[in-house]
Amino acid sequence: MLTADFSTRTHMNEQITAAAIGQTVTLAGWVAKRRDHGGLIFVDLRDRTAIVQCTFDPDASGDAFKLAETIRPEWVVQVTGTVRKRPEGTENPQMITGEAEVVVTELEVLNRANTPPFEIEDETDTDELVRMQWRYLDIRRPAMTRTLELRAKVTAAFRRALDSLGFIEVETPILCKSTPEGARDFVVPSRIQAAKFYALPQSPQLFKQLLMVGGIERYYQIARCFRDEDLRADRQPEFTQVDIEMSFVSQDDVMQMMEQVMAEVMAAAGRELTAPLPRMTYADAMDTYGSDRPDTRFGLELVDISDVVAGSEFGVFAGAVKAGGVVKAINAKGGGSFARSRIDALNQLAIDSGAKGMAWIVFTPEGEVKSPIAKFLSSDEIAAMRERLDVEPGDLLVFGADTRDVVNEVLGVVRLALAEELAIERTGDALLWVVDFPLLRRDEDGGGTQGGEGRWAATHHPFTRPFDDDLSKLETHPGEVLSYSYDLVMNGYEIGGGTLRNHTAEVQRRVLAALGIADEEASEQFGFLLQALDSGAPPHGGIALGLDRLVMLLAGYESIRDVIAFPKTSSGADAMTGAPDALDSRQLKEVHLRVN
Ligand code: AMO
Ligand code: AMP
Repeated sequence: MLTADFSTRTHMNEQITAAAIGQTVTLAGWVAKRRDHGGLIFVDLRDRTAIVQCTFDPDASGDAFKLAETIRPEWVVQVTGTVRKRPEGTENPQMITGEAEVVVTELEVLNRANTPPFEIEDETDTDELVRMQWRYLDIRRPAMTRTLELRAKVTAAFRRALDSLGFIEVETPILCKSTPEGARDFVVPSRIQAAKFYALPQSPQLFKQLLMVGGIERYYQIARCFRDEDLRADRQPEFTQVDIEMSFVSQDDVMQMMEQVMAEVMAAAGRELTAPLPRMTYADAMDTYGSDRPDTRFGLELVDISDVVAGSEFGVFAGAVKAGGVVKAINAKGGGSFARSRIDALNQLAIDSGAKGMAWIVFTPEGEVKSPIAKFLSSDEIAAMRERLDVEPGDLLVFGADTRDVVNEVLGVVRLALAEELAIERTGDALLWVVDFPLLRRDEDGGGTQGGEGRWAATHHPFTRPFDDDLSKLETHPGEVLSYSYDLVMNGYEIGGGTLRNHTAEVQRRVLAALGIADEEASEQFGFLLQALDSGAPPHGGIALGLDRLVMLLAGYESIRDVIAFPKTSSGADAMTGAPDALDSRQLKEVHLRVN
């Protein structure tokens, strides 16, 4: 509990409970509300811990009463008075301070405040941009304060758990060379070296590996990371990782360590984690849920019906199978009652996600089959689908027919939309590991620090170690090589990811070559790493957790902006200070830049 030590007051507001009745106290904080009532003035005083009702009575309060008539919301005040029981019938059982009130004898105004642009209350429909422009007022809302407390508690629990396992916290540079995690770098021009730039770290990846070469064996850091990528609700340009690396470990060692640490962290947040967590391969996650971060709190699984429709008269289905693709379906239980417009919206979502269409069948409660493709399907085919997907009257089947990757991806998106549409209740914390990712993926996007133009890119990052058994395929069938890799998934969010690393320069060079980074370029870009790996690098591996995402889920929010004290807007701006901002010509000149 927060105490009033080292402050000008005697108590914090949350201490003004029944137990304090009769005591003389000095409190300080902000005026949340002033109500004038039949000769009495009530002021709700807010501090970090709670709100206390302060009562001004013309007889008991003297001069303080006159002053109380002038105070306004968000003024900063200090009061002294006696705690008494609230009169019968005026108690507020919702508040920890609801049984008591302070009858004020002295009031001091410490500072005045302009009328705030929004009311400082938990429930707010104020536009988020306005809240971000006045973030210090927003932070006064008790819900925000509680969230920042939770975040600190979670961070402290990580430190405690990792400290007790012998991990040492080491800081790594912010001004550094590019660390390829797949996003674009933020860059900082050098003044001393004209036309040279630092990159801000996308993660401490290379430094933590170098610490392993340095014999640190167990490292962690609450590390700030910077990535210039398109922002979303769960992505900020700067965010925080709990970054961890260990030497002489197997993949299981890292995962078990993480489960133990997470159990402690969850307990600190009043939640529970039962180890060992379920594990699912990447291939199974994609096949069953159409996502590498499946939300396993509900079913709506993707079911392969390729064999059922391989010879179908419906050309789209038969054609997809013939071309080596698949046909899959989801049974949206109870979705048979959806209006046509809702199904059309799902169809559009599928198309926007890369499908050519989304065939569907409604099984009406009366036992009819309604579908634009019904006429192409035989009764045997429909019967086989019913059986395999456990169809009952009132259900809706939706279909994807294409290459396996496209079908999984599209139906993965449709699955989440169906969960919303069907208002499926999702409770509890569904944590699991997704393991055995492919080492490489095709990069169509072309942005960022790796890949581009359909070349191979690293699924995690270029330092990930291929399965020993797959090494021989690295040059011949790079797409089939799996890696020692593990993502921690919670409620459909990737909250962490890690891998074992290439600890020999030989394998690291081969992986870089597979990424199209030829020998010479490898030496140029990663010479320092390759040299380190040739200097007695121990086998090592690690993981990084997204602290913002974890706290977001624990606090029950849907955006990480809600758990970051000073977040950026979706256009990467700080709405309060106005960053990013222009530089004046002198500053530009100093860093050898000219802008158009
Ligand atoms: P990765 O890139 O998977 O791994 O990042 C680890 C975790 O960080 C979180 N995260 C983000 N959170 C908020 N905003 C972002 N823009 C953002 N990007 C990532 C996610 C993610 O799971 N160096 C490796 C880790 C390792 O191999 O040890 C890395 O950074 O929760
Ligand atoms: P069409 O034969 O193009 O008129 O399509 C008939 C139905 O099949 C429509 O409902 C389409 O949305 C759907 N459809 C078309 N292509 C696909 C596909 N690749 N996967 C799933 N459904 C499809």
